[in-house]
Amino acid sequence: MTKRQTNVSSRMRGFLSLADFEPAAKRRLPRPLFGYVHGATEDNASLADNRAAFDELGFIPRVLRNVSQRSQAIELFGVRYESPVGIAPMGISSLTGYRGDLAQAKAAQAYGVPMILSAASLIRLEEVIEAAPGTWFQMYMPKTFGEMHALVDRVSAANVSTLVVTVDSSVVPNRENNMRTGFRTPLRPNLPLLRDGIMHPTWSLFTFLRTILRHGMPHFENASAERGEPLLSHRANRDFSGREHLDWDAIRAIRARWQGPLVLKGILHPGDAVMAREIGADGVIVSNHGGRQLDGSVSPLRMLAHVVKACPDMTVMIDSGFRRGTDVLKAVALGAKCAFIGRPMNYAACIGGQEGVEHAIGLINAELRADMGLLGVTRLDELGPHFLRVKRFEAGDIYGA
Ligand code: GLV
Repeated sequence: MTKRQTNVSSRMRGFLSLADFEPAAKRRLPRPLFGYVHGATEDNASLADNRAAFDELGFIPRVLRNVSQRSQAIELFGVRYESPVGIAPMGISSLTGYRGDLAQAKAAQAYGVPMILSAASLIRLEEVIEAAPGTWFQMYMPKTFGEMHALVDRVSAANVSTLVVTVDSSVVPNRENNMRTGFRTPLRPNLPLLRDGIMHPTWSLFTFLRTILRHGMPHFENASAERGEPLLSHRANRDFSGREHLDWDAIRAIRARWQGPLVLKGILHPGDAVMAREIGADGVIVSNHGGRQLDGSVSPLRMLAHVVKACPDMTVMIDSGFRRGTDVLKAVALGAKCAFIGRPMNYAACIGGQEGVEHAIGLINAELRADMGLLGVTRLDELGPHFLRVKRFEAGDIYGA
């Protein structure tokens, strides 16, 4: 049974929906850090479409169906999860929230939902998996097959259950918003950064200094088989280039090396989902990377039914823009098994650590539970496209024909 929220602490009481964490995190975080999490790319067209797509679908609920016994449990790759939501991978979560990766992973474990640790995380994946067994791991495709094999071997040795490979990031996008706010990784210690730190003392003391004093300078720990660069550095330059040559052979190589469930994240075209299936991937996450890669790429919700139709026997999941239980139920009705949520979980970890993330998961779980009842279903597999319609009047609607 899904863990329910009991005794919400006074610290969390004002947070009534996932959206409520954002303004609090904006106040807490230095501008470049909030900007990095909040921002997308170029004109934020994809970011906007991710929300717009949900609004274009309406529900057609059924009534009086005895919904007293409801379960929102799902199964992914032979593992039962308590709710069709998970935590999407997000880089530098342990800079925006104290030990943020661990806070997210432990909260997800407590609530029985999947969490994907980012390749751009700052705590060793071995430590996260030990603290929260069952955490998934996301990797970018390293530049060479040798580096790829070494990373897959490390991930296997760490007992990661499910490997997620991000496939929409071979080319570096134009994140001009990061330039506007002064964000870069590694962060360069300079006067504006110092000033920003002074203006955000709670973050400076209880997240940044506490991290440095207790755990030393954070490093990018999980981008490759070896420890990566330090977070704060004058010299280092984190290099995301040099991946443009990658093609499906890289996935074939990973598939040959990795024994466990393999998920490709960042697919929008049904043809790419078919290719993933043919190569032996077990699942896909239909995603436009939260609007952070190709600006103008459509919301994954618009492509979901096409992907499900093209690959009916594959586990199709989704992310990008999910904020409400109703968003998740729309995706489930279109065939998604699980929806991953990013930014709000990051903000929740920033504000409340593990307790904050647990509260956030509890909120969306409670919404899902109520919304399932209001829709007239007791299990998620009762949902289908017949519970939805596109919100636009057809001629027949005014005659009832
Ligand atoms: C990394 O995946 C990012 O979107 O910043």
